[in-house]
Amino acid sequence: MDPTSLQRLVFLTSLLSCSTNQARLTVTPSSSQVFEDERVSLRCEDASDGWTVKRNTSYDNRAECGVDWGAPDGSSCTIGSSDTFESGVYWCESTEGSTSNTITITVSGGSVILQSPALPVIEGVDVTLICRTKMADNLPADFYKDGVFIRTESDGHMTLHHVSRSDEGLYKCRVQNEGESPESRLSVSDKPPMTATNATTTLSSFHLVFRVICHLVVFCPYCICTFIVVSLYRERARGNDSSVSVAMTPPTHAEQGLDDDYDDVMSAVTTEHQF
Ligand SMILES: *[C@@H]1O[C@H](CO)[C@@H](O)[C@H](O)[C@H]1NC(C)=O
Repeated sequence: MDPTSLQRLVFLTSLLSCSTNQARLTVTPSSSQVFEDERVSLRCEDASDGWTVKRNTSYDNRAECGVDWGAPDGSSCTIGSSDTFESGVYWCESTEGSTSNTITITVSGGSVILQSPALPVIEGVDVTLICRTKMADNLPADFYKDGVFIRTESDGHMTLHHVSRSDEGLYKCRVQNEGESPESRLSVSDKPPMTATNATTTLSSFHLVFRVICHLVVFCPYCICTFIVVSLYRERARGNDSSVSVAMTPPTHAEQGLDDDYDDVMSAVTTEHQF
């Protein structure tokens, strides 16, 4: 098996063992910035009972959904009408203290927001950042990264093609006569993250299982062929050995013959491997 399939096997194993008790936090709308009064839904996916959404804001720490804020629904939590003080870091936590990924949400009281992915994006994909005002999301907008002007987009949409680690940073946008959005961090992850959707995870599991089966199907006939070739040569060697005995050749000569056959077998096996 080549190293990549071995990696896949290891990944598959870890996927199967991890997916049982690792919760992931997702947010709707899928944006790290929302306008004040917007509805925000937080969901702990793949979570069993006993997981709740918690948050740190500038007002409270480790505040629990249903106790200190929000309306709980199983392992999910909804903020019906968000307020600026609800800006902060959100995560899922189990009763045992296990935690999920975190999501930073900024609730803006201003008139411009930057709609950017709340979860890390996978290296290589295209990411579109949208500059929205309360009235429209296609007005001309200036985009900034880490405080530095990048470019103006006439429709307020800036697409980053094939994102890489170098695209990580704090982004914001500005709309003429409207104002500036808060800043939000864009994170790029270099491997299939734990934040993949259920469907993607299932699909990649199937894909991996399929690959493993394929490798076995290819690998088994190869082993069987090698075994048969070795057996045949063994058989031939034994045949030669008995004919040698009948001819009453001296033992030293018989040993020599066996050695030759052994060499034949070895070269056959070597050829097989190269094949
Ligand atoms: C939340 O705040 C607590 C207390 O300050 C801190 O220990 C914890 O690391 C914070 N959690 C996150 C995810 O920022």
